[in-house]
Formats: sequence, structure tokens, C-alpha cells
Amino acid sequence: MKRSMDRTSETIQTLFQPYKGILAADERPSSMDKRLASYGIPEGQAMRARCREILFTTPNLERTISGIILAENTFKDHETGGVRTKDFLHSIDVTVGVKVDGGLESYRGSDTFSVTKGLDDLADRCKYYAQEGVQFLKWRSVIPVTDVPDDFLQTISKDIATYACAALASDLVPVIEPEVLLKGEHTMEETRAVLTKVITAVLGALQDQSCDPKSCVLKTSFASAGLSAKEKPPVDTVAERTLETLNSAGAEQFAGIVFLSGGLPSEDAIAYIQRVRALGEQPDTPYSCSVPITFSYARALQESMLSAWQGREENVLAAQVAFTQTLQHAVKKYKGSEEAPLGGDGKNV
Ligand code: G3H
Repeated sequence: MKRSMDRTSETIQTLFQPYKGILAADERPSSMDKRLASYGIPEGQAMRARCREILFTTPNLERTISGIILAENTFKDHETGGVRTKDFLHSIDVTVGVKVDGGLESYRGSDTFSVTKGLDDLADRCKYYAQEGVQFLKWRSVIPVTDVPDDFLQTISKDIATYACAALASDLVPVIEPEVLLKGEHTMEETRAVLTKVITAVLGALQDQSCDPKSCVLKTSFASAGLSAKEKPPVDTVAERTLETLNSAGAEQFAGIVFLSGGLPSEDAIAYIQRVRALGEQPDTPYSCSVPITFSYARALQESMLSAWQGREENVLAAQVAFTQTLQHAVKKYKGSEEAPLGGDGKNV
């Protein structure tokens, strides 16, 4: 007899489908306005909503995207195709997630370290989102690549674990995003050292609060050098060091791992995920990863679409074609000379 899965296991299985990834479309209005402005696109609510609508109504989106993360205001206020965005996404079989953190504030007056706000009313918001058919949540913390004080690391890890417990209490899968910032000149080895500390601290905090990481998804940065580093390691090296770092820090204890693009050029972020996914699946190597891996990018997926769109209605079709091509590229796995077929489930998109 078929055993029914609990809701969180079902969500995890739905998110990690072969040849699919997650779109992060959860920028706050002010960040989204800055993004639009950087492409010469007028700012404001109407343009932000139109941008999301173009992304979400891209034909066959569900062949390469398993889930989309929305900001709270987008979830509550935006429509797509004349209906509430969450209803539209459910109608095309895309799993809906919401970013529930309340942004950053200085840690004890520091200019370098920030903690994430939003725990106060989190339990009520989790219940609300569960009732609204949301299946997963996201909480972002940020960690610069520098000497990270233990008390700071413990504070953010404890908050992450508190968030994860609240999400799971409402049967929502917590995506845990301790973003190790790639902005800067740091080397790959410096990124690795901070990544290791952060993942170890988060796993410790989850254990302290009896929260099973196997019900959580880790959203992490690649172990790449900083965006302004003097030396840029080759794709293979970044992929190998990333998997070694995650494995040694115990990231396989999570249900799955997704990557953020962190301001990397789209081409780099896509090359890294193609190689990481392929290497992670190779058995019996230092890079083998026993849990599923995919991308959960914002900038690296939206770049081509925004360049093609430019805020003009006559460019919408070209923007959706560009977005589709980026997605097709992102879902491939690069195995050296051999590549996986294009599109979700290997279908032409
Ligand atoms: O919080 C950041 C998003 O989840 C991922 O965005 O791919 O542009 O770094 P990104």
C-alpha cells in the first residue's frame, strides 16, 4: 500500500525535481527598484509588478522551475494573468514560497555585521502562509568574509533555528539562507573558511533547538573568490572546492542544497551550478553529495530578461525568450564533454 508522505517531505520532493530549479523573485520593493533602474527601466509598483508578471507568465516556465520565492508584499498584493499570483503559480504547478525575514539591522552597532529582523510575529505569519497554500519559506542572514566573531555567529544561527522551528510547526519547509557575501576581494580559501564556520554553527543551533535539518533546505553561496578578487579560479576548481566545503561542514544533513548567485555574473553562476550538480552526482569521490542540489537564483536568472525587456511592452516576447534560454542553460549539468538535454525533464522548452 502506498504510504502517504507528510507535507514537508512532499514539498521537498516537489522542489528538487530533475532539471528544475527555484526562482528567487523575493526582492523588496526598494531593491527591485534599484535593479530596474540599473537596466534603465522606470521604477515603481507598476513596473515591478509587470516585471514579475513577465517572468511568471513565460511559456513553459514549469518545465524548468519547480518553485518561486515571493516577497511578502508581492504575495499579498500582486496579480498575475488577472488572478492572485499564488493562484496563478499553483495553476501552472509551481510551488510557492515566501521570504519571511524582515531585513537586516546592525548587530550591536557594528558597521560590518548585521542580524536579521522578523522573529517577533513569525509564528502567526507562518500560520497565515500555511492557510494560504504556501509550501516553503525563506530566511536570509548575511555574513561577510572577514574575521567573524563567535557571538555574532551564534546569534544569527540561533535566530535561524528559531525561524526553522516556527516554519516546521506550520508544516512549511524552511529554506535557510546564511549568505556568505561574495562582495569583496577575498580569496576562494577565505570564502571557504567562513562557509565552513557558518554551516557548522547553523547545524549546531538546529540541534540545540531539536530541529531536524533533514526537514530544512540549505541555501548557500558558492565557495568562489570575492567578486573583486585579483584571481578568479576556474569553474572546475570552484565547483570542487564548494562541494568539498559543504561535505566537510556536514551540509548533507539537510534535505537538499540550493545555491544563490550572490552578484556573480550570470554566466559564472550558471557554469558553477552546472558543474556542481554533475560532480555532486558522481559516486565515491570527495565531491559526491548524497542530497539533491539545484539553483535558487534571482539576479543570475533575471539578468538576460531585464536586458531584453528594457521596460518596453514591444520587448516582452524577446524578454521571455531570453529568460527561457537562461533557464534552459541553468538546468543543464556539465559533465565535461557530455551534457544533459535541454529543458525540464529533457523536453524542448
Ligand atoms: O537573497 C538572495 C536571493 O535569494 C538570491 O539572489 O541569486 O541574486 O544572489 P541572488
